[in-house]
Amino acid sequence: MGSGILPLTLGIETSCDETSVALVEGGRKVLANVIHSQVDLHKEFGGVVPELASRDHLERLPHLLDLAFEVAGAGPDDIGLIAVTRGPGLAGCLLVGVGVAEGLAASWSRPITGVNHLWGHIYAAMLARPDLEPPLLGLVVSGAHSDLVRMPGHGRFEVIGRTRDDAAGEAFDKAARMLGLGYPGGPALDRLARTGDARRQPLPKPSLPGLEFSFSGLKTALLYRLRDLGPEAGEQEKADLAAAFERSVVESLVEKLDEALSRAPVSEVVVAGGVAANTLLRLRAAEVVAGRARLTMPPLELCTDNAAMIAAAGFFTSPPRGEVGSRLRLPGGEVHSSITVEPSLGWD
Ligand code: KG4
Ligand code: ZN
Repeated sequence: MGSGILPLTLGIETSCDETSVALVEGGRKVLANVIHSQVDLHKEFGGVVPELASRDHLERLPHLLDLAFEVAGAGPDDIGLIAVTRGPGLAGCLLVGVGVAEGLAASWSRPITGVNHLWGHIYAAMLARPDLEPPLLGLVVSGAHSDLVRMPGHGRFEVIGRTRDDAAGEAFDKAARMLGLGYPGGPALDRLARTGDARRQPLPKPSLPGLEFSFSGLKTALLYRLRDLGPEAGEQEKADLAAAFERSVVESLVEKLDEALSRAPVSEVVVAGGVAANTLLRLRAAEVVAGRARLTMPPLELCTDNAAMIAAAGFFTSPPRGEVGSRLRLPGGEVHSSITVEPSLGWD
């Protein structure tokens, strides 16, 4: 061990439009979490272009690896486990991360584990709160998911609520596009909503029975309201609409969180995923959970996609060392584990 630290987990995340490499000690302590966002690359297309995304991941990874080791003051000898996102995500993007991770595992003779990206979002909370342990209730809100899950123990998840149509992040992104805010929409809509007043342009709050979400009706309501306002819609009206849209999405999310907590009380609640960066959601989730459970919402850089959360999830959920993945003998005699990429992986 070169620098006298515990064996580290090397995390690699390339599922969508962030390339990230992290070094995490003991599943809890982030020594490095370097993230390259491809926002500038995809901006002119108004969304993520998969082919450009995977090529960029491949070009950036070597430098990000060097940078992560430099930031952590560590080297390959310090690595005890390699954790890489195997799904869900864009197939070509996932393949780049898994291919690079497998190459490193083979050349360094280290165990490797494929990580479920959704689990990663929950494990981001473990990095933010060192004493946090399951059982917990989680709300994962990202660009592709709005899921309520129960986590009875490490690596065990039960989905108790999901969206019938759009995910919360997808809804924010589409609303932002309608309001002329471009890509990425969520953070821009958040900023605009801070200058608006939801009461001036009220929009309906989606209401489905049980723990299901639906955001497509709300999206249509925004579309019609913008059409009625016509080209006259001024900056203030747009800001009011952004605030109203945000309020409807957030109230729907916290209403179901509230219901899930009432149905089966639990002492730890986690709200995570890219949308957990939203200002109003952070405020309202804290209000709804207050006095009933402890709420953990990771800091912003751990809410959006990053490799530290993948390293943490890999550390806590990988099989015992030596049994990780399926083993292959390469010509040089190195041990290599093969990971299956699953673009539409669910919570299992
Ligand atoms: O978890 P994430 O980084 O990537 C996925 O796994 O999907 O989530 C990205 C999503 C995008 O839809 C983005 O617009 C949304 O999170 N998002 C936000 C905010 N920051 C990111 N939505 C609302 N308010 C924000 N501040
Ligand atoms: Zn994500």
